[in-house]
Amino acid sequence: MRARLDLDLATPEPPPQASIDAAIRLLKTGHLFRYGEMGGEGNEAAKLETEFAAMLGAKYCIAVNSGGSAIFLALKAAGVQPGDKVMLNAFTLAPVPGALQHLGAETVLVDINDRLVIDPDALRSRAAQNGAKFLLQSHMRGHIGDMDKVSEICAEFNIKMIEDCAHTMGATWNGTQTGCFGVAAAFSSQSFKQFNTGEGGLIVTDNADIAVRAILMSGSYMLYEQHAAAPSPDVFERWKGQCANHSMRMSALTAAILRPQLPLLAARNKRWREIHDRIANRLRRHQMLRLPHRPQAEDYTPTSIQFFLAGNKIEAVLEQSAKHGVPIKFFGGDKAIGFTSRSPHWEYISGDQQVSQSERVLSSLCDVRLPLGLTDQQADILADVITESVDAVIP
Ligand SMILES: Cc1ncc(COP(=O)(O)O)c(C=O)c1O
Repeated sequence: MRARLDLDLATPEPPPQASIDAAIRLLKTGHLFRYGEMGGEGNEAAKLETEFAAMLGAKYCIAVNSGGSAIFLALKAAGVQPGDKVMLNAFTLAPVPGALQHLGAETVLVDINDRLVIDPDALRSRAAQNGAKFLLQSHMRGHIGDMDKVSEICAEFNIKMIEDCAHTMGATWNGTQTGCFGVAAAFSSQSFKQFNTGEGGLIVTDNADIAVRAILMSGSYMLYEQHAAAPSPDVFERWKGQCANHSMRMSALTAAILRPQLPLLAARNKRWREIHDRIANRLRRHQMLRLPHRPQAEDYTPTSIQFFLAGNKIEAVLEQSAKHGVPIKFFGGDKAIGFTSRSPHWEYISGDQQVSQSERVLSSLCDVRLPLGLTDQQADILADVITESVDAVIP
């Protein structure tokens, strides 16, 4: 093998200088908590919420401490009670079923198809069988399901959809941004997402009751009037004694680091897409590799690349590739490794969770992180390491 990549693919994009300056300014004031007892004038978290809501065209936004917290609070605020059934596409990351476990909800897995997205037929039959009134639609690895069909099925069965947009910040389906299809949506600003604040989450919704409940449960004490992208005080009056404080709010410091990154989203997504498509075009030429189909309706925002590797020597290919600087994650493995797991590894999920179609799809699915700093030349080397690793193992 000739190709070798000398770069840590898990290198996150550093926040820009404006984030560093804003963080230092705030650190000097000591006001790192988002609420002040003398009024929240100039609060970074409230400003972030207003700006993020405007970006999504949403009425309300609630900043929280992680994407997982955003999912938990969005579902709880939307009315999920312990024991309620919540449908979830079977390809996602562990914090997503984790949020359902945290709610005491019953996870009902729904099969995905070869496009790595929820299979509308499987969703329809699950909805008809089990009477679940919630769908947690996780746009895992930035693959967007047929949102027209999914929305239609949700309307038909009176199902509330909550979107997990951790991997689709700025992505659209038929021109509509992800995060705008359901009753609420959750985003993440964990380091490997489009925005990097280490940890962080955002909820958007147009529903005043969901917004108020999420604000109260995020841990606003009785200082909720310091929120700007929020409903009017009378809605808070209705809910304020009934919502527990789960202390999941975002700190002002996190918001200060995040705000200067918002205007960078379009440029970041454009470059990420170039890197992804460049590598995809190179991988596609190899007969042992197949890339998931991307329909025209899907304007995707990738921060990683997925491909299917044929044959039964996948582990040997992974070993070769890692030796040459490209660690490939594999979703078909026996054990959960690093960030990578699939439903048989989530042993806490009970009940009948037959998702054999998903198991077949995931049994050959590989995944590689794409740092935004990757140059064109490094992108080509990355693709070459993968194809040469396949050739070395499967001559
Ligand atoms: C698909 C998906 N949803 C949700 C999350 C949760 O985000 P966080 O790590 O901010 O809790 C992640 C985390 O990487 C994710 O990959």
